[in-house]
Amino acid sequence: MEKSLMTELYCRAYDASARAYAPYSRFPVGAALLLPDGSIMTGVNVENRSYGLTNCAERTAVFAAVAAGYRTFQAIAIATPAAAAPTGPCGGCRQVLSEFAPPETPVIFGASPDNLVETTIGELYPFDSLHELGR
Ligand code: THU
Repeated sequence: MEKSLMTELYCRAYDASARAYAPYSRFPVGAALLLPDGSIMTGVNVENRSYGLTNCAERTAVFAAVAAGYRTFQAIAIATPAAAAPTGPCGGCRQVLSEFAPPETPVIFGASPDNLVETTIGELYPFDSLHELGR
């Protein structure tokens, strides 16, 4: 994936994080998916006073993309501006990401554009034995 495209995707995730609903953790997260037609779908974490009903930014973005008619994505960026160090997606989100994009799909995350981690869905979620069931 071209570096400028990943940087732009990260900037969209960062901008989205300002719209997070995170009054309980005060840890806003933004996610941005690059879709096959070149458009970008963003998502934010949406917390709840029950805590357990919280939806992560990554899943918000994936579910919004599916609701808009997409079934895959080409890359994802995740911005966690309040974090002291780059924060990767939670285990549940890793599995959801793996449902809709292949292992080589780029993932980029970090608290700021000058300290980003670049990896792939396959690195974050290896040994995906159930993957074939959904195909
Ligand atoms: N969170 C995300 O939205 N994505 C991540 O990758 C890590 C955690 C949210 C969940 C909760 O609202 C807050 O961050 C603190 O865990």
